[in-house]
Amino acid sequence: MRALEELFRQRHKVEHAISVNSATSGLIMAVGALGLGFGDEVIVSPYTMSACAMAPLIYGAIPVFADVELTTGSLSAEAVAGAITPRTRAILVVHQFGIPADMDGILDIARRHDLKIIEDCAQAWGASHRGRPVGTIGDIGVYSFNVNKTIQSGEGGLCTTRDAELAYRLQLLRNHAESVVGPAEYPNLTNMVGFNFRMTELQAAVACEQLRKLDALNEKRTELVDYLTQGIKSVAGFEPPPGRAECHSTYYIYPLRYLSERFRDVPRAEMIRAINAEGILFYQGYTRPLYRLPLFQRREAFKNGYPWSAPENREGHVSYAPGLCPNAETLYFQQMVINEHIRPPQRREDIDDIIAAIHKVTNGWER
Ligand SMILES: Cc1ncc(COP(=O)(O)O)c(C=O)c1O
Repeated sequence: MRALEELFRQRHKVEHAISVNSATSGLIMAVGALGLGFGDEVIVSPYTMSACAMAPLIYGAIPVFADVELTTGSLSAEAVAGAITPRTRAILVVHQFGIPADMDGILDIARRHDLKIIEDCAQAWGASHRGRPVGTIGDIGVYSFNVNKTIQSGEGGLCTTRDAELAYRLQLLRNHAESVVGPAEYPNLTNMVGFNFRMTELQAAVACEQLRKLDALNEKRTELVDYLTQGIKSVAGFEPPPGRAECHSTYYIYPLRYLSERFRDVPRAEMIRAINAEGILFYQGYTRPLYRLPLFQRREAFKNGYPWSAPENREGHVSYAPGLCPNAETLYFQQMVINEHIRPPQRREDIDDIIAAIHKVTNGWER
């Protein structure tokens, strides 16, 4: 574990790394370490993995969904600004699909409103924003080593921070809030409920080797992504992932926007069916906007409607109404199509098959 943490620290030039058993655990720990809880609101993306919205709930804090950028699927800084209330304490930003989020805009809002930032980098191994590795820009960054990720150890995760006290709190939360290996500079922390979120040494050994391979794996992935983008950029009804200026994206999956209005309104489902029939696996939508999950519609995470029904939270006026985040809904219900075959051991020849299928299926559809 400690070798992995040291390797991560050196590679990412960051002061503290805390390995954990999953990014989900890491997100929960991040919320706990920042002291968020009842009466607090955390702004989250609706268009991402559910753990991002669950983590605040564990501590009684209320997730507030802000819309995403239509182009990248990441939180829109403008929407974040519009979602702030006197109860907002933090923003949980996801570098969705491996494209760095608009950290300039989000940092600016956080500074103006004195908010904490948690960066979810589960899908963004090796990505950077203006030369800084994602996860080292906000207060706490969280990475995933689960089996689907760019590098993996079956299950696993890692939290990172520049702040020594936060690092200490994260270490306590990981281990029953009772003991931390190494110098205990903050021995007076009390009243903390801890967990067993430890990564095993076996997983850490695998994760170390994977981390050493990260650049080579990303290089291959980037080559395949660029090749695919080149091959389909002439098809007017598809918008390949845009990336972000002065950022380095490391695509976890290939998010492609399907614009049916440029294809004589052929529905997305029909297009997917036709491409799948060519033996190429695309799927539609990615994740349903999280506020549409029954949990949020019913406002019952725990018994008796907690945490929404808690006295500290009753004054908040959070909406989870359908239509709340129009861009997330447009991506999920109409535009987004995903291909996962942009990772080694795929080769250019495999990407050629994807390009050929797209051209064959869409030939003659364009207006
Ligand atoms: C954006 C995002 N956050 C968090 C997670 C949770 O990661 P883990 O499976 O390591 O708990 C995932 C994994 O799918 C993810 O994609």
